[in-house]
Amino acid sequence: MSEFKGNKVAPAEGKLAVLMPGMGAVATTFIAGVEAARRGLGKPIGSLTQMAHIRLGKRSEKRWQMIKDFVPLARLEDLVFGGWDPIPDDAYTAAAKARVLGPELLAPLKGFLSGIKPMPAVFDHAWVKRLEGRNVKSGTKRELVTQLVQDIRAFMDKNKCTRAVMVWCGSTEAYQEAGPAHQSLTAFERALDANDPSIAPSQIYAYAAISTGVPYLNGAPNLSADFPAMIELAEKKGVAIGGKDFKTGQTLMKTIIAPGLKARMLGMEGWFSTNILGNRDGEVLDDPANFKTKEVSKLSVLEQILEPERYPELYKDLQHKVSIHYYKPRGDNKEGWDNIDIVGWMGYPMQIKVNFLCRDSILAAPIVLDLALFGDLAARAGMKGIQEWLSFYFKSPQHAPSVYPEHDLFVQKVRLENNLRYLMGEELINYLGSDYTNE
Ligand SMILES: NC(=O)c1ccc[n+]([C@@H]2O[C@H](COP(=O)([O-])OP(=O)(O)OC[C@H]3O[C@@H](n4cnc5c(N)ncnc54)[C@H](O)[C@@H]3O)[C@@H](O)[C@H]2O)c1
Repeated sequence: MSEFKGNKVAPAEGKLAVLMPGMGAVATTFIAGVEAARRGLGKPIGSLTQMAHIRLGKRSEKRWQMIKDFVPLARLEDLVFGGWDPIPDDAYTAAAKARVLGPELLAPLKGFLSGIKPMPAVFDHAWVKRLEGRNVKSGTKRELVTQLVQDIRAFMDKNKCTRAVMVWCGSTEAYQEAGPAHQSLTAFERALDANDPSIAPSQIYAYAAISTGVPYLNGAPNLSADFPAMIELAEKKGVAIGGKDFKTGQTLMKTIIAPGLKARMLGMEGWFSTNILGNRDGEVLDDPANFKTKEVSKLSVLEQILEPERYPELYKDLQHKVSIHYYKPRGDNKEGWDNIDIVGWMGYPMQIKVNFLCRDSILAAPIVLDLALFGDLAARAGMKGIQEWLSFYFKSPQHAPSVYPEHDLFVQKVRLENNLRYLMGEELINYLGSDYTNE
């Protein structure tokens, strides 16, 4: 284990292209926020790479370091932003329309944001019925791959980037399970050549990125890179991948609260979640085919955390319901209601109510930043395939078929930090507490 030391991580020299398919609310809140932070107009709150410290060594050593000083991450100054969108709005117009950040923050950034224009997208209305777009590429699926690869290379050349990373910030595509075309790289490439309708646009982006050596992180719940063919490609090309679905809002709360209740062996009869939101994401999710993709991602969380098979007395009859309502007046300021029916000593019932007035993209933007920086770190550290240590950021963490996904936020955090310690040749922390008992 110890031969893989920090000196194997190549330094973060030069500029990093952060490429986003989908330049809507999340992407523009992220871009504008990074630029505002660079100018000292706001703080990157919610980002571990920018705000968090990590403990090193034994507690008695009293050694803490900022994560960004501990591991060689790209600096905010070195990020360059680009992307694709079927809607041709530049990043300023898109951010203004999304109404996440106010005019007082956007106005000073107008010149910068207006200069970021989306490249024509690989888009197919069949996968996102609620959207129409005219900034769209044409060609066969194989030709679309070639065009995206050209876009990536041209963007990097023009902006003098040494590296790139891709984070899917596009709409959630219609529900799909992996089919025959997804089972192996050979089958997928044959399907690409045959223009197979089962290949979704997000899979074309993922294929283009990974085959060009660009790490691919998926912020939406669609399959995208979560099937055998794409995992095989990532392994073969030595590229890091991760997904799916940014962990924000209600699911973030679930993965904070549920592990705590389970840790105290409190039972649960039901968890009812509903929320209203009125942004474009909400409009897309109003279509049942697209909502199904999100629902599957949201529902899996409690099952894994609570383990009803292991604890049937506590969780066997758990009813878990999730609904999302598109309600325009609310915009990006989602409101979520959770009712949790829990059970205590001698079977006495209790209830917890959570009313979360959150802002979706404000919670998602720091995740995009961390995923871009950690995805780039993984590339420089030679880490390939599924990056489970990034599960911390996802509602539906991609994982090897032989293991279950880890949903508990605190286990995910320990894993992320230990991964960083491991990369830098620091002792892993197991919280045994032997630092004072054995010394
Ligand atoms: N905001 C959150 O808290 C959060 C949390 C988890 C996941 N997500 C997911 O992140 C994604 C982005 O969310 P958002 O609020 O920015 O949505 P949004 O609707 O504001 O932006 C999505 C953008 O993607 C574009 N798009 C659609 N298909 C595309 C394609 N094939 N290629 C390129 N662009 C495409 C759309 O035109 C739109 O501009 C959604 O899938 C959403 O479900 C968001």
